[in-house]
Amino acid sequence: APIQPPEFKVCGEAHDVETGDPLDVNCCPPVTDKIIDYKLPPVTKLRVRPPAHKVTKEYLAKYEEAMRRMRALDKDDPTDPRGFMQQANIHCAYCNGAHDQVGFKDLDLQVHECWLFFPFHRWYLYFYERILGKLIDDPNFTLPFWNWDNPKGMRMPKIFDNETSPLYDANRNQSNRPPAIIDLGLTGITDDVQKVVNNLTIMHSEMIRSVNSTIDFMGQPYKAGSLPRPGMGTSERGSHTAVHVWVGDPRNDPYHEDMGNFYSTGRDPLFYCHHSNVDRMWSIWRTLKTDVPKDLNEPDFLNASFLFYDENKQLVRVKVADCIDHTKMGYDYEKVDTPWLKYKP
Ligand code: C2O
Repeated sequence: APIQPPEFKVCGEAHDVETGDPLDVNCCPPVTDKIIDYKLPPVTKLRVRPPAHKVTKEYLAKYEEAMRRMRALDKDDPTDPRGFMQQANIHCAYCNGAHDQVGFKDLDLQVHECWLFFPFHRWYLYFYERILGKLIDDPNFTLPFWNWDNPKGMRMPKIFDNETSPLYDANRNQSNRPPAIIDLGLTGITDDVQKVVNNLTIMHSEMIRSVNSTIDFMGQPYKAGSLPRPGMGTSERGSHTAVHVWVGDPRNDPYHEDMGNFYSTGRDPLFYCHHSNVDRMWSIWRTLKTDVPKDLNEPDFLNASFLFYDENKQLVRVKVADCIDHTKMGYDYEKVDTPWLKYKP
């Protein structure tokens, strides 16, 4: 059977995934009895997510205003599920054992290190983006993506590094602020040219060379009764995790908040921009002309479901099946070069 959405009413204490130590946070969502089965609104025109290093002034002004309003909700009404901390806590609740698996109270619900990784984060960003749009009355608003797979995007995007911006977060590794080049292999290489070459090699490997089956890319099966964390796909294990580690702040011992731990990562606005590119990698992978089948057809995958609050504060139930084709969700990614595609050193 597929993984069922969590029961918010029985949400409990969050703990660190590696150590099991309790975390000093309450990340349980607001409770409501009314749950609606979510229907994707009809798509008239695709909203296009831009690369973060190339956004226009007008776009940035909107994004900052939306973030300002989302942060303001924390003060105006901390129980509003659209607020900044409430949104960050979604990640904590789904990833630090606050929710149990329905029907298996000894098993934590965990959306990482398994085949729910891409679908869960796609839906998470989808509502986060709609909430931001709603807060500025712009239904066409899109998140940007951190284009770390392209040499032009291999730095922390500048728009997140302005200390007076609501996109800024002080809890980041100070040595990795711009103009530092990201190290997707966490190799410690110091030469920038070599780092870029290595990054492209890693991308080619996790998107193509190391992927011999659908599961290799998507992550291991995770169904009702499965133990948490059966195994990561290549992208989750590689570039995805590296970016978290690279941005997380080593001054915050031991969890490297914000980006360095599940429970706190959503407190950094950069997290959503990072995951926008992770999501883009899934969408690109589905178009690659490699021999591996691109979609999982198992009902236990397609019928897995999650709960999110939408932009109107309604709790909705969403299915994995409805997020496989992101264009049906009304958005796409601006086309940019993917130099790793042909990158065989
Ligand atoms: Cu849910 Cu990048 O982690």
